[in-house]
Amino acid sequence: MEVHMILPKLTIRDRTYEAPIIQGGMGVGVSRDMLAGTVAHEGCIGILSSACLDFLISHDLKKRYNAYDAMILEVQNARILSQGHGGIGVNIMVYLARDFDASVRGAVDAKADMIICGAGLPLQLPQVVGTTADIALIPIVSSVRALRLICARWAKKGRRPDAVVVEGPLAGGHLGFAYEDLTRSEHQLDAIFPPIKEFAMTNGDFPVIVAGGIYTHQDICDWITRGADGVQMGTRFLVTEESGASLLYKQAVIECTPEEIIVCHNRTCPPGSPSGMPFRTLTNAPMYAFGKFRRPFCNRGYVLQKDAEGSFSICAAKENSQQNFCICNGLLSSAGYAKDEQPLFTVGTNAHRVDRIVSTHELICELKGS
Ligand SMILES: Cc1cc2nc3c(=O)[nH]c(=O)nc-3n(C[C@H](O)[C@H](O)[C@H](O)COP(=O)(O)O)c2cc1C
Repeated sequence: MEVHMILPKLTIRDRTYEAPIIQGGMGVGVSRDMLAGTVAHEGCIGILSSACLDFLISHDLKKRYNAYDAMILEVQNARILSQGHGGIGVNIMVYLARDFDASVRGAVDAKADMIICGAGLPLQLPQVVGTTADIALIPIVSSVRALRLICARWAKKGRRPDAVVVEGPLAGGHLGFAYEDLTRSEHQLDAIFPPIKEFAMTNGDFPVIVAGGIYTHQDICDWITRGADGVQMGTRFLVTEESGASLLYKQAVIECTPEEIIVCHNRTCPPGSPSGMPFRTLTNAPMYAFGKFRRPFCNRGYVLQKDAEGSFSICAAKENSQQNFCICNGLLSSAGYAKDEQPLFTVGTNAHRVDRIVSTHELICELKGS
């Protein structure tokens, strides 16, 4: 049955937002200040991506910014664009370990409303944030087991999640599942949501936000009716006027067919993300189509992991370019930077339904059903 409703407000850590819609963080360079600030201006929550932000801002302003200063500036700019409406948050991927602490501290000091952390378990987040910061901490999980683990660890630092994002396997970007589990019924959003909602209700009753494959006002109504407190959406916001994706990227999404949306993985369907996580991409992305059998141009270091001595020196893409994309340059290129590399396009499963570039205002009106 078709449901049409006035969407409820969403309260996270004593701040109430007009509509329960979060524009998900999209790296690299897709959810910048312009997109997040405009989403917030519409009364929703706009999420900035921390990925490669120092590079993006240094390039734009032709002056060297580190990850901390870049984050401060980006939050401030988004806040100005929001004109005090809605919420401004920051998405920081755990896998981007080298810049994790600096990005978190930047978000705290710039007084972002929230930090949303995925692509790994953000077990150390409360420690980095400190005890006095008034900022909502929101993990992204794909199982109740992961949420339990996070809650147990955070409790030792006197924190619990202010909300949780439950992301199913239809989402864009990196996916929090084993490649083999992506299509199993017990891992779909429908199945993972109920135990997480129950856990949240009995552990402080924090809001549960669903993500992955949510596309229409009707989808949002369905999830609210089923007990979700809000939704996080990526693909719809990717092809807006305010998104930082290049025109080539937006056009590729508009033109793609369902068959061109695949999940790559470095072990099972190489090349994949150096993170080892499954990664949804378009086969018509130039880097996927033409670049997969050559050595990637790899010089950024955003995905470096620690070696035995504790220095960030290991890049999986450099070590094995047959199995791993150089994700930094490929994604930078998809936002119009690092043009020496061919772009890599990530999307959610619904990308083939996108048929034009819309303004964020128009999209949010549609999603609100207004
Ligand atoms: C282009 C793109 C980039 C993304 N980048 C990130 C990211 O950097 N960090 C993250 O946690 N999630 C990322 N995501 C996931 C989104 O934030 C969101 O949760 C997800 O796409 C929701 O599914 P949907 O695209 O079906 O709406 C990305 C998604 C897209 C489409």
